[in-house]
Amino acid sequence: MRILVTGGAGYIGSVLVPKLLARGHQVRVLDRMFWGLPHYAEEPGVELVNADVRRIPEGAFDGVDAVDHLAGFSNDPTSEYSPDANWQMNAVATRTIARLCRETGVRRLVFGSSCSLYDGLDAAHLLDEQVSVHPRGAYATSKHYSETALLEEAASGDFEPVILRQATVFGPSPRMRFDLVVNSFVKDALVRQRLILHGGGRMYRPLISVNDLADAHVACLEAPPELVAGETFNAVQENYQVRDLAEVVAAALVRLGKPVALEDGPLPSIVRNYRCSGDKLRERLGLDFATTPAIAVARLVEVYERIPVEQLGHPKYYNIAWMELLESVRPAYQAMQNIFEPIEE
Ligand SMILES: NC(=O)c1ccc[n+]([C@@H]2O[C@H](COP(=O)([O-])OP(=O)(O)OC[C@H]3O[C@@H](n4cnc5c(N)ncnc54)[C@H](O)[C@@H]3O)[C@@H](O)[C@H]2O)c1
Repeated sequence: MRILVTGGAGYIGSVLVPKLLARGHQVRVLDRMFWGLPHYAEEPGVELVNADVRRIPEGAFDGVDAVDHLAGFSNDPTSEYSPDANWQMNAVATRTIARLCRETGVRRLVFGSSCSLYDGLDAAHLLDEQVSVHPRGAYATSKHYSETALLEEAASGDFEPVILRQATVFGPSPRMRFDLVVNSFVKDALVRQRLILHGGGRMYRPLISVNDLADAHVACLEAPPELVAGETFNAVQENYQVRDLAEVVAAALVRLGKPVALEDGPLPSIVRNYRCSGDKLRERLGLDFATTPAIAVARLVEVYERIPVEQLGHPKYYNIAWMELLESVRPAYQAMQNIFEPIEE
């Protein structure tokens, strides 16, 4: 297939795209390239379209057989930074993409939604895809709108969206993020030799490794319609209480000769606490999410040790810090544009 991957240069996309290429697919990546060109840019079978999902260029859907939609703001802080931009790229653009799919005859679209839709529900219960959600905040609200838009567009019968409500992702990717709980714990342990448990670490978080999640995307893109068309799946390896997770990470680091202390800290401004079941996806597609956080720690340590320690705090690894930096240099960048270009005589 020729697969259009929006946001394919990001953390998840940088693991997904090489898997698609390895399976013989052609991949067209439509991305703003916020973090620069992806590592696979020169691979055969890859086409890069540097564009915004809010202004999809003509021809972007030409020859496309399936879409994987990952582009947009990808966490609460960036969505809250500009709720209007968030709404346009995380909600409105998804409906536009669904309509473009229908106009151009693309049946299959896999959407990177989020388990944050379950925010506010009782963590005493293991939540499945049937439960009624009442998302709060710009990010989760826009993901919910997108899900609804995709399912509405599917009512015609010639469109097969698959919604993946992704847990918080962990593990190494060529485009690394340190603002995700496991990745950030490992980084903090290496830099400061301590992990802070905000609010005592009592909150539950569903998690999945980036490698297992990318496999789930591939499976959903390739599955026969009777298994996935119009379906919503939680993509979850396991739910972890943050305190237990910190202990898992600390134990794995001690085994690598890197001791770390756990300390209690204040409650964070955004508290998320829910548990959800990944059984439906696992059973329907025969997936085995085998990578636990304990397994990922050793791989993360290898990645981090290749980065100079003073670089571990670089804004490029933290979406909100990078967004704020880009915004702060925008006037200077605009002032400098074309300054070194020769003037035509
Ligand atoms: N990483 C997680 O833990 C997680 C969990 C649940 C859901 N998700 C969702 O999965 C998707 C991918 O997440 P990620 O961790 O790879 O994020 P990421 O921020 O690393 O990647 C997002 C990519 O989208 C691109 N992008 C952003 N806005 C764009 C726009 N307007 N037009 C075109 N491209 C744009 C960026 O350049 C980037 O390459 C996101 O939709 C996110 O909301 C991620």
